[in-house]
Amino acid sequence: MNVDDVLQGQNRWAVIHGKAETVLSSLPTSSVSAIVTDPPYGTGAWLRADEGQGSDPRATHRVETWDCWSTDWLDEAWRVSHGCVGLFLAAREIGSLLHWVGGRPWRMFVWCKSDPRPRFGGQPAYGFDPFIVIGRVQPVGGKDYILASSPRRNRDGQAAGHPHQKRISVMSWCLSLTSVPGDSILDPFAGSGSTGVACMQNGRSFVGVEQDAAWCEMARARIGEAWGPLFKTNQVSNGSSDDHDN
Ligand SMILES: C[S@@+](CC[C@H](N)C(=O)[O-])C[C@H]1O[C@@H](n2cnc3c(N)ncnc32)[C@H](O)[C@@H]1O
Repeated sequence: MNVDDVLQGQNRWAVIHGKAETVLSSLPTSSVSAIVTDPPYGTGAWLRADEGQGSDPRATHRVETWDCWSTDWLDEAWRVSHGCVGLFLAAREIGSLLHWVGGRPWRMFVWCKSDPRPRFGGQPAYGFDPFIVIGRVQPVGGKDYILASSPRRNRDGQAAGHPHQKRISVMSWCLSLTSVPGDSILDPFAGSGSTGVACMQNGRSFVGVEQDAAWCEMARARIGEAWGPLFKTNQVSNGSSDDHDN
């Protein structure tokens, strides 16, 4: 799988196992239409105390080793995109993002969670996450908010097991705000590949980057599964017989 093949339109998608900052700095300026991503943003997971109920104030907040908010990658993302940069973040991190945004145009959208985490003992738990688009929002884009749950293994065939997996409907909404069919999308924090699946379903090409080998494989499997039947349909309608090597 090769990023250049995707950027030159020879392949529809690629997922790179590597660090976002390394891959971003290797890409040419203005080489993708938009960045759409769900970076680590410090949500972690609430762990209930051994005893007590859901409102137990002794519940603690576990943060994955990778789950640390930073704006370090944004300069390179802005350079690589010739359109906008759209990203999820926690509400408490808006100030730090806007410090980076400076005078650039930006707009905020909201994913309202239909199943927010319980509020433990007065500690903050958000029922929404902002999706901020820096640069030009697509005028044909969707509505300002979306109401959706998180995929969870115990109730949901869509769940891949990633602790912060986003629903495909949510990532499709993000695409509608940031891009149009035919665009190339880069997600430097691809996780289990939800942005890529949404790209296949919505006529965009996709490059993902993920540092964790297992999530990288999961992303490739999910995107390949989404693109396989669509690839065959495209072949029939194009009369094309090119090999599909993703
Ligand atoms: C919030 S999750 C993305 C979840 C994804 N939207 C999904 O639906 O599965 C962020 C991902 O970024 C990855 N990550 C963290 N730091 C990274 C880095 N420096 N380079 C590449 N990936 C990174 C983590 O391993 C994690 O899978």
